Formats: sequence, C-alpha cells, structure tokens
Amino acid sequence: MFPLRIAGLRFAPAGRPLLDGVDLELSGEGISVILGPNGAGKTLLLRLLAGLLPAHGGGVDWGGAPEPAGRLAMVFQQPMLLRLSVFANVEFALWPQAIRPAGRKARTLAVLERVGLAHRARDSARLLSGGERQRLALARAWAMAPRLLLLDEPTASLDPTATEAVETIIREIRTDGAKVLMTTHNLGQATRLADDIIFLADGRVQEHETAHRFFARPHSPAARAYLQGELPWRIAFDR
Ligand SMILES: Nc1ncnc2c1ncn2[C@@H]1O[C@H](COP(=O)(O)OP(=O)(O)O)[C@@H](O)[C@H]1O
Ligand SMILES: [Mg+2]
Repeated sequence: MFPLRIAGLRFAPAGRPLLDGVDLELSGEGISVILGPNGAGKTLLLRLLAGLLPAHGGGVDWGGAPEPAGRLAMVFQQPMLLRLSVFANVEFALWPQAIRPAGRKARTLAVLERVGLAHRARDSARLLSGGERQRLALARAWAMAPRLLLLDEPTASLDPTATEAVETIIREIRTDGAKVLMTTHNLGQATRLADDIIFLADGRVQEHETAHRFFARPHSPAARAYLQGELPWRIAFDR
C-alpha cells in the first residue's frame, strides 16, 4: 500500500474548493505530521484517505493499487466509544478479523496492558477521563494491527501528562510496524514525534519536508506566518 501517492485530490462540496489539488507522497515508514491553520482541511484529508468521504477529483494510489491492501485505522479527535466496558470496546473492533474468541480476548488484554488500561478492563468506557478515553481509542486501533494509522489531533484538550502518555503509545504503534499520519496543533508534539511535516494551507500541500528542515527553515510564506502565530515568541527564520 506504499508509497502512498495522492495526486490532485479535490474536495469541493457545492463547488466550494476545500481541498484544491492536494499532492503528497508518503513512504510506509515513520510518523508524518500534518500542520496547518484551522479549517485548512487536515481532518478532511484524513477522512478522505480513510474512505469516509468521496473525493471530487484526483486520486490516491496505494502502492500501485486503487485500494489499500493493508489494514487502516483512524482515531478521531473525539473518539467514539461504545457504551460498554473498556474491554468490549477493544474486543468489538476485532470482530471483523477472523480470530478465535480466545485469541481475541488475549489480544484485547495485551493491548489494554500496553496502554495502561488493563486494570480498568471491566469498567464502563463512559467512566474514563479524557486521556484514558484517547488511550482506549488508540488501543482499539492498535489491536487491529494497522499498517496505516490516521490520527486526528489525538491530544487536543489533554493535559501534559496525558499528552505524554499518548505520545509514547503513538511511538510504540509506529515501532510495531504502522505508518502514522497525524494532525496536531501542538508544535512541541510535532517536533517530538514527526519525521516529516506536511504543511497544508489554501487547499494544498504547501510544504513537505523533514521535520528538522521544516522548523529550521519553512520556505512558504503561509508556513512562516503559521509558525509565527503559533509560537509564543517571535523567531527570525534563516533565509
Ligand atoms: N463533510 C463536509 N462537507 C462540507 N464541508 C466540510 C465537511 N467537513 C468539513 N468541512 C469544511 O471544510 C473545512 C475544513 O475543515 P477541516 O478539515 O475540519 O479543517 P482542519 O481539520 O484543518 O481544521 C471547514 O471549513 C469545514 O467546515
Ligand atoms: Mg481538524
């Protein structure tokens, strides 16, 4: 399913171009972070890749195939949890896979262990804190052993401790063999996690650079303005 090649992707409901020719190539390794101003279409891009929305033009090539050959999982900004136990929330996600019940239970417990929620397995998912809910949503995605994991602002509204726990889990899922494509508004998080940065603005990818190069020397005026606006201090970029 890699390299994943997005070419000329358009999403223009009622003729209003929200994504207006997105070009992007992603390898199957590492963590890619999409940055961009509010309303830039970051969430839309993830939803289009997940097949949750139809594109109005352009296309996606999944390593030479029209559909992803490997598993894909997406975690939303507000994870939708079932009104069931923590355990059931993960176990249900495994139903579509041909795994025997014993294997399903073992995998569910193992992944809950890895996100630090094994001791809450019998609790109702509704009782979880924001950080725990997000860890449960990640556990559900992780249990599916995705080849591509799409994460939409996974730590929005979490405190620094909960954020750190989520970042650790994201790194471990990556190490387990998933390519991660995520959005964030947390620039610190982008510097901590990203191998490469995709800067989206005005309906297009304005820059796609290694994280190191992006933060040292963003070349598009839109990215410079965005970084200047997000940082609590003014920085002068090298020319
Ligand atoms: N399904 C949809 N149909 C029409 N417009 C949408 C849809 N989803 C989002 N939008 C609009 O697309 C724009 C980009 O949204 P979004 O992808 O959520 O931005 P971001 O995640 O970068 O903040 C917004 O103006 C939003 O209102
Ligand atoms: Mg969004």
